[in-house]
Amino acid sequence: MTKTIEQILQQDQFTKDDIVRLLQSKDEDEKALFVKSSEVKLMHVGKNVHFRGLVEFSNICKKDCLYCGIRASNSAVNRYDIADEEILKAAKFAHENKYGSLVLQSGERSDQKFIDRIENLLKEIKKISNNELGITISIGEQTKETYQKWFDAGAHRYLLRIESSNKELYNKIHPNNEEHSHETRLECLKSLQEIGYQTGTGVMIGIPFQTYDDLANDLIFMQNFDIDMVGMGPFIEHDQTPMYQYKDQLMSLKDRFRLTLKMIAVLRIMMKDINIASATALQAIDPLGREKALRIGANIIMPNITPTSERANYLLYQNKPCIDEGADDCTNCMEARINMADGVIGYGEWGDSKHYKNRQ
Ligand code: 5AD
Ligand code: FES
Repeated sequence: MTKTIEQILQQDQFTKDDIVRLLQSKDEDEKALFVKSSEVKLMHVGKNVHFRGLVEFSNICKKDCLYCGIRASNSAVNRYDIADEEILKAAKFAHENKYGSLVLQSGERSDQKFIDRIENLLKEIKKISNNELGITISIGEQTKETYQKWFDAGAHRYLLRIESSNKELYNKIHPNNEEHSHETRLECLKSLQEIGYQTGTGVMIGIPFQTYDDLANDLIFMQNFDIDMVGMGPFIEHDQTPMYQYKDQLMSLKDRFRLTLKMIAVLRIMMKDINIASATALQAIDPLGREKALRIGANIIMPNITPTSERANYLLYQNKPCIDEGADDCTNCMEARINMADGVIGYGEWGDSKHYKNRQ
């Protein structure tokens, strides 16, 4: 006899089939999933929502991912690289406003000058914040030496999405060359974990050719890899990318949104003490998207503190929210939003992944 969703939700462990059933759940079943995932969230990570002030400091990228608006081949993009003083100003803002943590994100680059520049910036941010600001970086695939250098300079969390744990699917959404290899991505994640970073990964949800099986395998991959943090969001097509040609084959934006919430909910039940970010891309689909994710399982939010003049140029996908607001407006807006989601902002705290601490 097939199990009911209620029965599945009472289990300690999910099989792949259970996960597929949960991801396909609708109406009352979907509600039961969200009730369970909210309970698990409150019990294991509490009401606290932690801020990560996001600085998208450059959209220069050497990669050519077929889905991404800032891919190297997109000549319609105005490329920018924010000066170090501006980045430090944003870090100061985050520190003074008790954000607790900062995320430095950019397109992928690995020339020596760039590597040294990031090292210096990290040291500088540590200095100006009296070591009070936690630092996450998200600058793509690098050598283990580079990851180590940046770790030694003060970064302690790293986000590198696997995009899909299915190698064949990964190859379909990236150019087929050595620069875009699934093996390298996995190696990078391993290096990050070995060095001692709180390691974060994630996937896009609703990409062309992706199945429920793929998504269930993605969650199992995260569990087996024992990751500390996750950021996953809906795929949103960008008309200046090759993947746009599949736009008529995609599930509706609304369905991608629901599926992302269900992915977050199932993962929260599977990995109770990890940090789960409420992806900005959720808000591109639903104005209250991020609040909804916080309610059902996410506990991290990344207010954009990139200087406003450059925000409109960091469009990985279209319809991106908050590209006009200044950093102050973002803070106020976030407070209101988090209150609405019944959360409490963990001001001034690093908000490290409990999972990372528990596995030490
Ligand atoms: N839609 C949604 N997410 C995207 N990303 C890149 N392009 C898109 C898109 N079109 C995500 C990738 C990447 C992260 C920084 O942004 O998952 O890892
Ligand atoms: Fe820049 Fe994928 S296009 S990392």
